[in-house]
Amino acid sequence: MNNQDTVQVTMTVNGRTRVEQVEPRLLLAHFLRDHLGLTGTHIGCDTSQCGACTVLLDGQAVKSCTVLAVQADHQAVTTVEGLGQRGGLHPVQQAFWDKHGLQCGFCTPGVMMTAVGLLQQNPTPTSEEIREGLDGVICRCTGYETIVRAVAEAAAVMAGEAGPSAAAANE
Ligand code: FES
Ligand code: FES
Repeated sequence: MNNQDTVQVTMTVNGRTRVEQVEPRLLLAHFLRDHLGLTGTHIGCDTSQCGACTVLLDGQAVKSCTVLAVQADHQAVTTVEGLGQRGGLHPVQQAFWDKHGLQCGFCTPGVMMTAVGLLQQNPTPTSEEIREGLDGVICRCTGYETIVRAVAEAAAVMAGEAGPSAAAANE
């Protein structure tokens, strides 16, 4: 492909500025995986239903298979690789570990990014609100109970063990 068929995008991905030439039709999910090698963002369907591709775009959880890379130009993207810090898991990651919120793990990056987006908007969700917040992500393995418990646990930890989420974590 010659350069006339591509456009330049500039994005801050997991805190690092990335400048790349992309086809205008390139999806953000493919940009992250194929251009940047961030393969934690999974692609689990071709109908925008599974949510395995969920990332944060300027702090909002979005399905990256529904966004063109050019639409994310000059925005900040956080993928699952950007969640934890060196030497420490993000509370959502730790809670998924502690509460066994995964089996095969294929859906997990998208579920965790969705949970992070949810907890940013509603730091102390009830069990019902967690279920509603995770409505857009599909897990083929766990039956969701442990996922809901993990999100509730993360909420409780992030809120200092306060609020209804602490109780929801033990339901
Ligand atoms: S890959 Fe399934 S919703 Fe994006
Ligand atoms: S843990 Fe396997 S699809 Fe969710």
